[in-house]
Amino acid sequence: MSDISRWEELFLQGRLDELSAAAMDLTRTHFGDSVFLRGLLEYSNHCSSNCLYCGIRRDNSRVERYRLDDRMIYAAVDSGFSRGLRTFVLQGGEDPEFGTDRMCRIVREIKKRTGGMAAVTLSCGILSREDYAALKSAGADRYLLRFETSDPELHRNLRDGVSLERRLKALDDLRNLGFQTGSGFMVGLPGEDDELVLRNIRLARELELDMIGIGPFIPHPQTPLAESPQVPLEKTLLATAMLRITCPKAHIPATTAAGSLEPDGRERMLRCGANVLMPNISPVEVKPHYMLYPGKICLDEDGLHCIGCLAGRVALVGRKLDFDRADGRVIHERA
Ligand code: SAM
Ligand code: SF4
Ligand code: FES
Repeated sequence: MSDISRWEELFLQGRLDELSAAAMDLTRTHFGDSVFLRGLLEYSNHCSSNCLYCGIRRDNSRVERYRLDDRMIYAAVDSGFSRGLRTFVLQGGEDPEFGTDRMCRIVREIKKRTGGMAAVTLSCGILSREDYAALKSAGADRYLLRFETSDPELHRNLRDGVSLERRLKALDDLRNLGFQTGSGFMVGLPGEDDELVLRNIRLARELELDMIGIGPFIPHPQTPLAESPQVPLEKTLLATAMLRITCPKAHIPATTAAGSLEPDGRERMLRCGANVLMPNISPVEVKPHYMLYPGKICLDEDGLHCIGCLAGRVALVGRKLDFDRADGRVIHERA
């Protein structure tokens, strides 16, 4: 039996203690006690896509839609930068108002304002190779695009007709253009079993990702998946530990969805090999409108307040916040 199939056996048996112990050994070997920070900025909740699982999908007419203007984006970056953040993640729906020219301008301006010291990560969905190339030339360093599930049929259904193949092609384009590339999946989508979670983990490994973001799927009441059962956080924890074991050098965030499902969800992900946290630095007035799922945390807190809160939380699990911009190592080894 290969090493990985032994871990996969333990995963199928739900042996979290053994998996998390091995995952934590690897986390300490590669990252020490550090937990890296990324400032998350949700610039728009308009979306032309209609993914079945997502609270801000096009057909949810009950969402109050917003777009940050460029000045609001820069103000959030400026205050995050002065607080020490060195990575900014710009995430939004697939919003035509934030076309490539505008995003390039924003990326260039962030680079300028931060003296080139901050990394810019984009998470704006599927775009053409030409658009990604323009964003790279403007200075974007990283891109996050989850594949969501490795099952082609489930992917097509949940993403309203978009094929998994198209998504993987976008990830391929990003990698070939030199982006530090992140992807990942939700755990507990309807129709998923443990074997499929393992296939997701294998796909994440095959993609040689710099960053792997996973989190529990949390059914949103205003979506077609409202009645889906909530899968317990334990499944996400098992998957986190497996990812650390199979992709030891990847950056793995302890995601907000985990903290929204369970009050100590992020800390539990950190104990299973996660090494990144993403405080939400969006203006407080728009936070309640970026509701991908119900129960999202930190809606009333300024992102800078969250940094203080996170420092306390990581200390409780024997770690420390690290403000280094922490570029992906996988890409450098590939180069
Ligand atoms: N629009 C871009 C995209 O789809 O790649 C970026 C923003 S999208 C809202 C970010 C991520 O939110 C998705 O990749 C998905 O995994 C996650 N998400 C959406 N709905 C969710 C839900 N109900 N529960 C948990 N995560 C969810
Ligand atoms: Fe739009 Fe992304 Fe939500 Fe899909 S997951 S509806 S692309 S914001
Ligand atoms: Fe936002 Fe604790 S991390 S209030």
